[in-house]
Amino acid sequence: MMFEKKILITGGAGFIGSHVIRRFVNNYSNCLIINIDKLTYAGNLENLKEIETKSNYRFVKGDIVDADFIFKLFEEHQFDGVIHLAAESHVDRSISNPIEFINTNIIGTANLLNAFRSICKNTDEKRFYHVSTDEVYGSLGESGFFTEETSYDPRSPYSASKASSDHLVRAYHHTFKIPVVISNCSNNYGSHQFPEKLIPLAINNIKNNKPVPVYGEGVNIRDWLFVEDHALAIDMIYHKGKIGETYNIGGSNEWKNIDLIHKLCEIMDKKLNRLAGTSAKLITFVKDRAGHDLRYAIDSSKIQAALGWKPSVTFEQGLEKTVDWYLANEAWLNHITSGAYKTYYKQQYNIA
Ligand code: NAD
Ligand code: TYD
Repeated sequence: MMFEKKILITGGAGFIGSHVIRRFVNNYSNCLIINIDKLTYAGNLENLKEIETKSNYRFVKGDIVDADFIFKLFEEHQFDGVIHLAAESHVDRSISNPIEFINTNIIGTANLLNAFRSICKNTDEKRFYHVSTDEVYGSLGESGFFTEETSYDPRSPYSASKASSDHLVRAYHHTFKIPVVISNCSNNYGSHQFPEKLIPLAINNIKNNKPVPVYGEGVNIRDWLFVEDHALAIDMIYHKGKIGETYNIGGSNEWKNIDLIHKLCEIMDKKLNRLAGTSAKLITFVKDRAGHDLRYAIDSSKIQAALGWKPSVTFEQGLEKTVDWYLANEAWLNHITSGAYKTYYKQQYNIA
């Protein structure tokens, strides 16, 4: 079968990548979607079961740090577009092992840019879409929001590596005129998220009657966005975003960690038919994260005005859908939390 376009999606076996792949494979049958993923601890092909047999989908296992592999892939497929999500994504891991972040997030992105540049002849018709984070802007105090004009001030090895990759993407656009677009998004939550991140970790622990670790005093604030709304924004930016532009994406949904955990506990008590207050007893304050950013909050007025995007679910709806998914997908959780996860969890929290 001939396809009108070929799109490369990197990191498609991960949390957000799998939502983007599902959306693109289902909605764009005229496009061949090629997913390359190294399948690190965070990459899981079970995330893509629903679409893996579709004729417009291919999976290729590979490492974006391997320049030869990437060049050959681009030479063979002459992609029309790239949506780049592959990354090491967890702040705590970047504190214990920064080099992996520098390799994948910086060198890996540079390899993709070089390979993309080599196939850009009529540049207007292609695009390289780099998916990034609001953490590049640093940490906010009690007030204010990150806009597209906020200066970069990354403060963890993760955010510094993502900031570096954003700079490379813009530098390649400026210097080599390759067509790029970037988005910086706030914290995502939803199905298929690896249970090292706050929300799935808390759901999994509450379900198993294990302590729910809250860093420091739980006063740090994040702006939470349902992952399917991020995938929708990525779709809109990929198709309608202006070359050379950056779009901030956020949920306008700020929560102090401790308030969010209490809310989750209430939902879990109901779903698990426990007495009100049972799950909250599991909350355990633990040592704070080194260099813990206080607050992230996104001003997403640009993407709302320019592309007509807005979140489609309320936080209550999104959280409930998320909890329901984790409770219905015990096998997924059991597979992913066996083996290496156990060792990581023990080292990280020093609690059973
Ligand atoms: P994730 O950790 O769930 O998935 C990352 C995927 O990349 C995995 O499938 C992994 O196997 C793959 N990968 C890692 N190293 C690779 C390499 N060297 N070569 C090929 N594949 C590799 O991450 P996520 O939460 O889905 O995040 C996806 C992207 O979105 C990242 O770029 C992240 O910085 C960005 N982002 C995430 C959030 C969030 O809240 N999770 C928010 C904003 C932006
Ligand atoms: P996380 O999900 O790791 O995302 P990020 O660090 O990229 O924002 O963490 C979200 C917030 O929750 C952050 O302030 C750290 C905090 N946190 C905890 O309190 N306990 C935990 O076990 C984890 C993983 C995070």
